[in-house]
Amino acid sequence: MTDSSYQQAPTITLDPGLPLPGSITRPDYAPGERDALISEIKSLLPEKDAVLVAHYYTDEDLQMIADATGGTVSDSLEMARFGNRHPARTLVVAGVRFMGETAKILNPEKRVLMPTLQAECSLDLGCPPEQFIPFCDAHPDRTVVVYANTCAEVKARADWVVTSSIAVDVVKYLHAQGKKILWGPDRYLGDYVQRISGADMLLWQASCIVHERFKAAALQNLARQYPDAAVLVHPESPKEVIALADVVGSTTQLINAAQNLPNKRLIVATDNGIFYKMKLAAPDKIFMEAPSAGEGATCESCAHCPWMAMNHLRNLAEVLRNGNNEIHVDPEIGRRALRSTQRMIDFAAGRR
Ligand code: 13P
Ligand code: SF4
Repeated sequence: MTDSSYQQAPTITLDPGLPLPGSITRPDYAPGERDALISEIKSLLPEKDAVLVAHYYTDEDLQMIADATGGTVSDSLEMARFGNRHPARTLVVAGVRFMGETAKILNPEKRVLMPTLQAECSLDLGCPPEQFIPFCDAHPDRTVVVYANTCAEVKARADWVVTSSIAVDVVKYLHAQGKKILWGPDRYLGDYVQRISGADMLLWQASCIVHERFKAAALQNLARQYPDAAVLVHPESPKEVIALADVVGSTTQLINAAQNLPNKRLIVATDNGIFYKMKLAAPDKIFMEAPSAGEGATCESCAHCPWMAMNHLRNLAEVLRNGNNEIHVDPEIGRRALRSTQRMIDFAAGRR
C-alpha cells in the first residue's frame, strides 16, 4: 500500500471567465480559398526552409499538408523528437503553446513558429509556476515528474518531463529506484499512472477540459449496445472511463490499436481530430465517438479541443508569409527545462 496523497495538492479551478475560443469549427473559406491556401502553404514551407509539425487533434487539412510535405503528424513525444532530427531551420508547430515551447526548448538554435500563440491547454493553465514551484519546494523528498502539457518554467523546475506514451514506464523506473513522486498537472493521468506503477505519488489536481467530459455511464451503455466494439481511451480521461477501456494509451498508441485490434468497430474516447488518421490507418473499420454529452454534461468542448481548433489554413499561411508568432523561451529557463525534457527523449530512445 502506498501513501499516495490527493488531499495535499492544490486544486486549481480555472477562471470561469477563461477566454475559451468561441468556435471549434474551421473558418468559412471563400470559394477557391481553401485550395489556394493549401498550395501556397505547400510552396512556402520549402521556400522558408520550414517543416510542419502537427498534432492529431488539429484540422485535417493541416495534417494532410504535414504528411504531404515531409513533416509529421504525431503525439506530443514524437512532435518533440521530430524537430531535433529534421534539418529545417524553422519548425512550424500546429498544436497548442506547450508543444511550440517544447520544440524551442529542444531546438534553441531553430526558429519555432505557431499559427497562433493563443492556443492554450487547460492542463498548462491549471499549473501556474508561481503555485506549482513552491509546492515542489515544500516536498524536497520527492522527484518531480511533469506532463509535457506544462509551461517552460514548470519544466525547468521538474526532474523529469513525460508524455502520455511514456509516463507509466518512467514512473515504474523511478519507483524501482525507491523514488517518491510529485506529479503534475493531470490528476487523471497521475491517478492512472499511480495505479499501474504502484508508486507513491502526490498529485497536482488539474485536468483536461476535453477528456474529463467523457461520461462513463453513457459509454457503458454504448459498449453494451455494441458488444463487438473495442473501447479505446486516452488516459487524461476520468478513472471510471478508463475502467471501461480495452486499450488505454497516447494518441499514437490508440491509432496503432485501431489498426491492430481484430475488432471491426471501435469506440474512441479522445479528441475527434484523431479520426482523420485512424480512418487512414484502418479504412475498413467503423469508428464511434465515446459519449461526452448526456446527463450532467455542460460540454463547451465536446470531444474537440477548442485551442487545437484555433490552428487553420489562414493563420498557417500568414505565419509562413510573415514569420509572425515566434516562440521565445528565456534562455536560462530553457537550459534548465532542456535537462528534464532531454531525459525523457533519452529514456524513450533507450526503451526503443
Ligand atoms: P498525446 O501525447 O497522447 O498526443 O496527448 C497530448 C494531448 O494534449 C492530449 O490531450
Ligand atoms: Fe490540453 Fe486537453 Fe487540449 Fe490536449 S485536448 S491540448 S490536454 S486541453
